[in-house]
Amino acid sequence: MSRSVLLLPGDGIGPEIVAEAEKVLHKVNDKFSLGLSFDTALVGGAALDAEDTPLPADTLDKARKADAILLGAVGGPKWDSLPMSNRPEKGLLGLRSNLELFANLRPAILYPQLASASSLKPEVVSGLDILIVRELTGGIYFGQPRGVRQLENGERQGYNTYQYTESEIRRIGRVAFEAAQQRGKKLCSVDKANVLEVTVLWREIMEELKSEYPDVELSHMYVDNAAMQLVKAPKQFDVIVTGNMFGDILSDEAAMLTGSIGMLPSASLNSEKQGMYEPCHGSAPDIAGQGIANPLATIISAAMMLRYSLNEDEAAAAIEAAVSKVLDQGLRTADIMSEGGQKVSTREMGEAVLNAL
Ligand code: IPM
Ligand code: MG
Repeated sequence: MSRSVLLLPGDGIGPEIVAEAEKVLHKVNDKFSLGLSFDTALVGGAALDAEDTPLPADTLDKARKADAILLGAVGGPKWDSLPMSNRPEKGLLGLRSNLELFANLRPAILYPQLASASSLKPEVVSGLDILIVRELTGGIYFGQPRGVRQLENGERQGYNTYQYTESEIRRIGRVAFEAAQQRGKKLCSVDKANVLEVTVLWREIMEELKSEYPDVELSHMYVDNAAMQLVKAPKQFDVIVTGNMFGDILSDEAAMLTGSIGMLPSASLNSEKQGMYEPCHGSAPDIAGQGIANPLATIISAAMMLRYSLNEDEAAAAIEAAVSKVLDQGLRTADIMSEGGQKVSTREMGEAVLNAL
């Protein structure tokens, strides 16, 4: 049975890092006889340039049919002045909502080899292993109405709507409880229930779900405190579940605990376990085209893809072991460089992972 993987390199450093992950995928495809077939399509700014839309119909069609999707990154200053409805980011958001990829899993794991790359003290972060479960297709990112309107007094007013239905909260809650069951059995739900009604409901639903998962210890935390606790004592967390915008912010923060956002993968899944996999970092236009970006987050995302959407645990583990090995060898891209490391380019890092495989 042939299974199809759609590659969406996107913008900025996207094409450079996806190229390295692609080589790694081809290698494990041969080595473990996975029978994967690959296709590529345009998304984001690259699609805007070529076809005047950030999400061409052909790309969406291929994405719907693919068994799994690996995306690089979208966006960049070149397209920043376009109207909101036609920005590269709309390509990514459109894929997420059209495929109903509501469950975004963002693990923040500190590789022991990189303990000194974190800006926090090694004792605060060593052994760190957090999973952020971010709701990805609702909340203020998608709420209607939204826009900029003219008030009667002539002033313009920008507005967005923060909303969640019970069923949206329940399905992301279940993903998070189930993830906690597989891990340290602790779930912290992050909200702003002291101010926002939508998160009062969020908290209520999480409490309701608790009885279905008696082995999981549920706690709640306001988002401002969670932001503080993440840098103060991050190891208190096992699984965090939160809404779209809070999850966007907290996952960047959690990423930096591990030394570099250049190491963090993510998976976005729908209820059929179809998934889109992408590094947590963005398109990094400031370093695009220089061949210095860290391809490891994308390579580890490819491993997550093999595990979650393609049921190929052995191949996934082989990639993860290869990444660990190149870090042991002291190879470092600029973002994770520290004393004693050997600085390598994007391509050299990709080649090293290939060799370790
Ligand atoms: C992310 C990114 C996206 C988001 C952007 C590029 C739209 O920051 O995946 O975290 O805000 O979700
Ligand atoms: Mg983000």
